Amino acid sequence: MSNFHALVPAAGFGARMGHELPKQYLPLAGQPMIAHALATLCACEQISRVWVVLSPEDTQFRHYDFSRFGDKLQPLYCGGTSRAESVLNGLLAADIDADDWLLVHDAARPCLTQAHLHKLISELKNDAVGGLLAVPVADTLKRADGVARVLRTESRAQLWQAQTPQMFRAGVLARALQQCPDVTDDASAIEALGLQPKLVACDATNFKVTYPQDLLLAELLINQPR
Ligand code: C5P
Repeated sequence: MSNFHALVPAAGFGARMGHELPKQYLPLAGQPMIAHALATLCACEQISRVWVVLSPEDTQFRHYDFSRFGDKLQPLYCGGTSRAESVLNGLLAADIDADDWLLVHDAARPCLTQAHLHKLISELKNDAVGGLLAVPVADTLKRADGVARVLRTESRAQLWQAQTPQMFRAGVLARALQQCPDVTDDASAIEALGLQPKLVACDATNFKVTYPQDLLLAELLINQPR
């Protein structure tokens, strides 16, 4: 029986938020944003460890009291210059068997729920490859030129927006990220190995906080009984 671990890359700065404080520490419903995803992952009984990958220069994490998560939460100060490098460095530093499942979840997706997590794990735990939460594209897609004029409308048929967690065997993911470091998510590196990750249908509430107005939306959702 393989174990399930979570790894949360949290070594970015979130430049698009336009704040000095890295976005994972921005206040959200009375807590730093990162606390919400960590709480959901730590409360999931199937997950045995939650590794959080921080920048070696991080001065914030130790200022918060995360003792309620106990030993299940393990910080690693080995983040890199890209998300992929942070995930790979964390994977290599953490004590995870190659056959164990790893759920990689962005610190900037605070609205993840237990229902999302259970769906991902139950749909993938017997899968040969693994996969990710994702949402079919709902809006009409426009291809623009360099000055925001429409060049053409793109078909949205069979297009999905990738979310996290993304769940793969730790050994395969480490190999994939070593071979293909220039990716914006874990699934892309797995795809470069010639494998086909499974898309597990999620919903738009598991969005990534990227722009300042996203914080308000996240706060509304977190305060909502779900
Ligand atoms: O910037 P973006 O929102 O795409 O980042 C996604 C996740 O990757 C965030 O949780 C961020 O902290 C993390 N990240 C990282 N190391 C980097 C850049 C981003 O851990 N160098």
